[in-house]
Amino acid sequence: MADFDTLISNGHIIDGTGEKRFLSNLIIHNDKIISLFHPSKKKISIRNKNYLIKDLKFKREIDAQFHIVTPGFIDVHTHDDQNVFDDPTMSCKISQGVTTCIVGNCGISLAPFNFSGDVPAPIPLLGKKEVFKYARVRDYRDNFIKNPSSINVALLTGHSMLRVQAMNGDYNRAADEEEIKIMQDLLHKAMKDGSIGLSTGLAYPAASSAPTDEIIELAKVLKEYNGIFTTHMRNEGDNLINSVKETIKIGEVSGVRTVISHHKCAGRTNWGKSKKSLKLIENAKNNQHLDLDCYPYTASSTMLLKEFIARADKVLVTWSDKVKDLKVNDINNIAEEFNCSVNDVVDKLYPAGAIYFQMDDDDLNRILKFNGSMIGSDGLPGDKHPHPRLWGTFPRVLGKYSREMQLFSLEEAIFKMTGKSAATFGLEKRGLIKEGYFADIVIIDERNVIDNATYEKPLIPSSGIEQVFTNGQLVWKNLKAKLNFPGKFLEGKKFN
Ligand code: ZN
Ligand code: CU
Repeated sequence: MADFDTLISNGHIIDGTGEKRFLSNLIIHNDKIISLFHPSKKKISIRNKNYLIKDLKFKREIDAQFHIVTPGFIDVHTHDDQNVFDDPTMSCKISQGVTTCIVGNCGISLAPFNFSGDVPAPIPLLGKKEVFKYARVRDYRDNFIKNPSSINVALLTGHSMLRVQAMNGDYNRAADEEEIKIMQDLLHKAMKDGSIGLSTGLAYPAASSAPTDEIIELAKVLKEYNGIFTTHMRNEGDNLINSVKETIKIGEVSGVRTVISHHKCAGRTNWGKSKKSLKLIENAKNNQHLDLDCYPYTASSTMLLKEFIARADKVLVTWSDKVKDLKVNDINNIAEEFNCSVNDVVDKLYPAGAIYFQMDDDDLNRILKFNGSMIGSDGLPGDKHPHPRLWGTFPRVLGKYSREMQLFSLEEAIFKMTGKSAATFGLEKRGLIKEGYFADIVIIDERNVIDNATYEKPLIPSSGIEQVFTNGQLVWKNLKAKLNFPGKFLEGKKFN
């Protein structure tokens, strides 16, 4: 009989706090980390009982010499709401060391949604009509508990979903008082059901008519539950700075913790604006909880929309609902083929998806490096030819930005994807390697960790992510999913 489940020995632990690595053994039992001790120790005490190491028996022993052991990564910005059911192995994420995904970003979430009419952009990013079947967050939660994936999930409630329901599809205007009340009620229910907060997608048709006050009235609801407010801001290009100011105001007036999603400067004329935006954010941090996430690429990806095309250097169309056999192609080539304008291409293909090349390396580096910025992939799993961020984000930060470019230490990189993220999103006992914490763990070879997914071949797993545990169970080893599904629905810290 084994005393405990798993021993990981001789690894260098980077514990997620940002502090320097240390040599330590680690014991996992059930879903928790129960002991950390130096490999030279002969005796340890676990839960007030003393043990001689040489007498202990484990179900599994892993020698992690020359390897780094870290907390499981938290992808704070995802659109995996349906993906966790479509592919419960969640290979695109566990192959990167991600063990928790925050879903429901950019104003769109599978739940709560009870509406049968046509839905505006970007809601179709989450899937076909039939996947929108959760009137309440608890319905989504219960389905996840019944059909868990290899990773944990926490859900933000999408503002656009509340809007479309409360306004009965008439979303091209500000919500009136009664409609705001309906949205607030829906949000109360969602928070009671276990949602961790609210997300907005103010740049998109579904929500761009919502004035700042509408958002503030909703954010105030979050305050009661200690919920978080995340925002795909109204504008990430010409009006970036005003949008940052708007976000700061929403956080300040409502008093809720706020996260700017996928912070970027889109379009050549806006390159360099991150100096100012980060300064504003840094100043605001003195008075309120304000954070941001970002992904390590200079191209973005979302639905194919006319308003996003003009500012990009290059646009790759990746999917279309109308032209099913569309091959990934530059929008200018498609326009030539169709013998029409670029805008006509949008009408002919809509709903469709695209990759927009429109950011600058200097802004990206500055934002990634910013003290306390978190990593979120913004990957779009429904896309047959997705942006490489879906499979590559986390190893790319570790391999390219930390090891090769030395933008920050490995310890700091890990902090941006674990400890910082869990603390910001209120994920209890996650994000750190610490006794009593959940055993979400990654074993990495820091010498060769790197992303392999590219714009041409986006579905290739990364190198150097050797073994991944979620809640104490092995979910990924040697480039293969282990077909264990220990993921939990995380409800975040509740106000009491
Ligand atoms: Zn977004
Ligand atoms: Cu997003």
